[in-house]
Amino acid sequence: MLWRPRRPGQPPGPEPLGEEHTPMTEQNNDLQTYAPPQVFVDQANGGPELYEQAEAEGTEFWARQARELLTWSKDFTTTLDWSNPPFAKWFEDGTLNAAYNAVDRHVEAGNGDRVALLFEGEPGDSRSYTYAQLKDEVSKAANGFASLGVGKGDRVAVYMPMIAEAVITMLACARLGAIHSVVFGGFSAEAVRSRVEDGEAKLVVTADGSYRRGKPTTLKPAVDAALEKGGDSVQHVLVVKRNGEDVAMTEGRDVWWHDVVDTASTEHAPVEVGAEDPLFILYTSGTTGKPKGVLHTTGGYLTQGAFSMKYTFDLKSETDVYWCTADVGWVTGHSYVAYGPLVMGATQVIYEGTPDSPHRGRFWEIVQKYGVTIMYTSPTAIRTMMKWGEDIPAEYDLTSLRLLGTVGEAINPEAWVWFHRVIGGGNCPIVDTWWQTETGAHMITQLPGVTVAKPGSAQRPLAGVKVDVVDEMGESLQNGQSGFLVVREPWPSMMRTIWGDDERFVQTYWSRFDGMYFAGDGARFDDDGDIWILGRVDDVMNVSGHRLSTSEIESALVSHPTVAEAAVVGAEDETTGQAVVAFVILTDDAAQEGHDKAELGEKLRAHVGQEISPIAKPKRVLIVPELPKTRSGKIMRRLLKDVAEDRPVGDVTTLADQTVMQQIVDSLRD
Ligand code: PRX
Repeated sequence: MLWRPRRPGQPPGPEPLGEEHTPMTEQNNDLQTYAPPQVFVDQANGGPELYEQAEAEGTEFWARQARELLTWSKDFTTTLDWSNPPFAKWFEDGTLNAAYNAVDRHVEAGNGDRVALLFEGEPGDSRSYTYAQLKDEVSKAANGFASLGVGKGDRVAVYMPMIAEAVITMLACARLGAIHSVVFGGFSAEAVRSRVEDGEAKLVVTADGSYRRGKPTTLKPAVDAALEKGGDSVQHVLVVKRNGEDVAMTEGRDVWWHDVVDTASTEHAPVEVGAEDPLFILYTSGTTGKPKGVLHTTGGYLTQGAFSMKYTFDLKSETDVYWCTADVGWVTGHSYVAYGPLVMGATQVIYEGTPDSPHRGRFWEIVQKYGVTIMYTSPTAIRTMMKWGEDIPAEYDLTSLRLLGTVGEAINPEAWVWFHRVIGGGNCPIVDTWWQTETGAHMITQLPGVTVAKPGSAQRPLAGVKVDVVDEMGESLQNGQSGFLVVREPWPSMMRTIWGDDERFVQTYWSRFDGMYFAGDGARFDDDGDIWILGRVDDVMNVSGHRLSTSEIESALVSHPTVAEAAVVGAEDETTGQAVVAFVILTDDAAQEGHDKAELGEKLRAHVGQEISPIAKPKRVLIVPELPKTRSGKIMRRLLKDVAEDRPVGDVTTLADQTVMQQIVDSLRD
């Protein structure tokens, strides 16, 4: 057995997951499976031997990948130091530079003329960069940042649209050994402030704005608002002119990219850094409190990113045109836009806009225009396009596609089958990749030339990764039983800590089960040993593949003067996977003022949008007289979820006041 021994004799463990985690896979043995086409198998980078080698070689498998896939300025002598778990050190005494690996080495190898980036702007403007040009741009940016005082170890906050300069900025930081902290351009000024402060950023790189659905948007004003309230560590704000919107520039602090970067020298020597030197911080929602700054370091992160590009995406650098639709504000835009593809010398498309601007065929127009061969996107995007109808993709030539990938949430079999048939023409394997901001790179996925795909299941661990499903006590469960997804052994691209908070890192991920990484997801192995991800087991919601924490949205709601108490649940949603539904109790004053419920609901939605991000806006805000609580005061979200999903309300016997649910239902009926 290659990836997980079955344990048929083992007594069944408890079922730790509630009904909300019932997957759509009960009858998974009846589902149709899809073997990769022979033409794909014949040319695939990875065959079944990859799993065997990983099994036989242990951590040395990763040492071999690190040496084969990356260029080191100094080779490492130790592969893994796990003497102080969970603080792993991979390839520790090796030195390298991420930007050198992503850019310079391809130019040195004679591939300077190969296209690295194909930028497509939302209004239809486009620009391409060869590797030689990208090297010049990244070098200029590195010199420009250095002239603003940025050096090794400094933090740089990046708040940018999905334009080439965003990728150039990340690589320029890496070139200097500086640590970037990208804040998604859709996040609020408040999110910018808290992240800038937590990371004590010296420089903020932003743009005047971008475009969304044909209209100019702004970014710079949010940076100004953030820095008005705090962020004292910031010395400069560097602004790319993207859409020409009028923006205020603060004398002495704010400078234009075209003044600082465009005029800088194209000569810059990449700074040699240790394999364990930080590469970036990326904030992600957790169950409690403020977002966590997930820290990734250099050598291991790049190794697993490059490895998965080569094997999960079967990348052929000379011939493929790769397109990952993720924004650089998310981890997917880090590992599979800024680093993985470039480290592997790929040609990739980046797109600034939305899939429906200026028309609903935009994605397919881009595939056709650039001859995209590998496309990586989210189940939400696929479901949205499904809704728009197959006539739209039918208007475009999609025959260049040879491999498809999904990420962010489990893909429902209907969307999988549609993606396979309508977009892939029935010929493209699909890789359903499970991973997280914390894991840095793919962890569970098909190997496209090997795995017989089972729609809806991410199937098997990446070669060299050891995952398991355990019960409450941390005991491995039998196939067929639902439990907690854990990773049993360190992997190269694992997060190293939470920025500035080692204790929280240990508590959040390594304390639930002894010696295992707790992912926060439920999962199950089926009878074939394939893994089915069952969704989060904590209070983290997944809306359109974006992680949102219930408590963060609840705090945002309670910060509004009319709200006394709030409870948020993720309700099932046809398109976005989950949707945020908020239940709020008004303060006595607000209740007496007799607000119009619909109007106030709108106000509260807007308030959350402003406090966190438009993504976090509840789909519905329900104003209720009470919230269901146990005798110990814990809110029973399960019951609220029943209401949000229009189901009969479940068992209320553990409530302190058993009439509360009836009151809620009655008030909503009114
Ligand atoms: O619940 C899992 C879900 O997304 C979570 C990680 O979110 P984030 O850190 O934002 O990273 C998203 C992109 C890597 C996981 O804990 N998730 C991600 N991919 C899948 C998935 N759930 C099921 N199947 C997937 N392929």
